[in-house]
Amino acid sequence: MLHFEPKDLPQPQVHKIMLGGIAPRPIALVSSLSEDGIPNLTPFSFFNAFGSNPPIIAFSPARRGKDATLKDSFNNLVKTKECVVQSVTFNMVEQISLASTEYPPEIDEFEKSGLTPIDSDIVKPKRVKESPFQMECKVRDIMSYGEGGGSANIFICEVLKFHVAEDIFKNGVIQPDLIDLVSRMSADFYCRASGQAVFEVEKPVLKKGIGYDNLPVFMKESHVYSANNLGKFGNIENLPDENEVDKFINEIRDSKFENYEPTEEAFFRYQRHNNFQYMLKAVLDMEKENYLSRQAKLITFLEMTAKNALEANDTDFAWKTALYAGKFYSIIKIK
Ligand SMILES: Cc1cc2nc3c(=O)[nH]c(=O)nc-3n(C[C@H](O)[C@H](O)[C@H](O)COP(=O)(O)O)c2cc1C
Repeated sequence: MLHFEPKDLPQPQVHKIMLGGIAPRPIALVSSLSEDGIPNLTPFSFFNAFGSNPPIIAFSPARRGKDATLKDSFNNLVKTKECVVQSVTFNMVEQISLASTEYPPEIDEFEKSGLTPIDSDIVKPKRVKESPFQMECKVRDIMSYGEGGGSANIFICEVLKFHVAEDIFKNGVIQPDLIDLVSRMSADFYCRASGQAVFEVEKPVLKKGIGYDNLPVFMKESHVYSANNLGKFGNIENLPDENEVDKFINEIRDSKFENYEPTEEAFFRYQRHNNFQYMLKAVLDMEKENYLSRQAKLITFLEMTAKNALEANDTDFAWKTALYAGKFYSIIKIK
């Protein structure tokens, strides 16, 4: 590890380290007005949400790194206390980058960026039409830390009204692939939060999983399961008992599968196609015929099957297969 204390580094270096390690960050595209009514549009990635009752968000127009002066957006918000904060999608990322240019305060950044202003319902600053997620906000608090370049000015805002495009909703949830948000990382890197970048992890909120510490030792010592696999196994509330495991294994053993072969070659083909039912059937048949000469190999094949099932979110199948594999360890230490 490298070790740094911020007091020993120049500010740009501290800034760079923070941008790389605290990422990806959501981007707020903040629309504000000067006292004279000149629109300002600025992206901020020092941004997040902090509560929903009332809905509270915050972002930070920091002092300019080069001369520690205050940004136009800061000056506007201190005086007018109103803004619209919008999410940034992939389609608008080049335009929001353009809006981050340090234009003088008398320049309308809607015009410069080519983004389209539309009226808000409650606050004076305009909304950005291109964004499918817009929040009309009032500034509740401002917290400043330091007076040098890069020092934080956190604007804590309450959301007074949300505007959400209808087409990004499915089953009451804003779908990542439909909203297609982008986030900010280090240097000039951005991240697109859709497609292969998006995955699901079941929330443990509604149940109390047994935890990593209660996993059987043979599972924790497995060379097949990853740390993520073990975390997911630990999210189960009650382990299946021995009878349930035996019943499950016998059912698979006795069932007839179409176009199926009990060979190692077929096992790996089923694995590539993530067909874990066929994988298990093949292992059980090979075990019966004594094809899997070594116990270690049998365990590995069973654990590979459990892993596939787990990663396909069939946790019950995965647990029963994993516990069955446990029977073949010569020293089984189940807590
Ligand atoms: C994606 C992105 C994120 C940014 N995040 C921040 C931020 O969190 N805080 C900040 O002070 N500047 C941030 N900047 C830089 C400001 O957008 C830039 O300084 C802007 O010109 C300030 O404009 P203003 O003077 O009109 O307020 C960011 C720029 C980009 C492109």
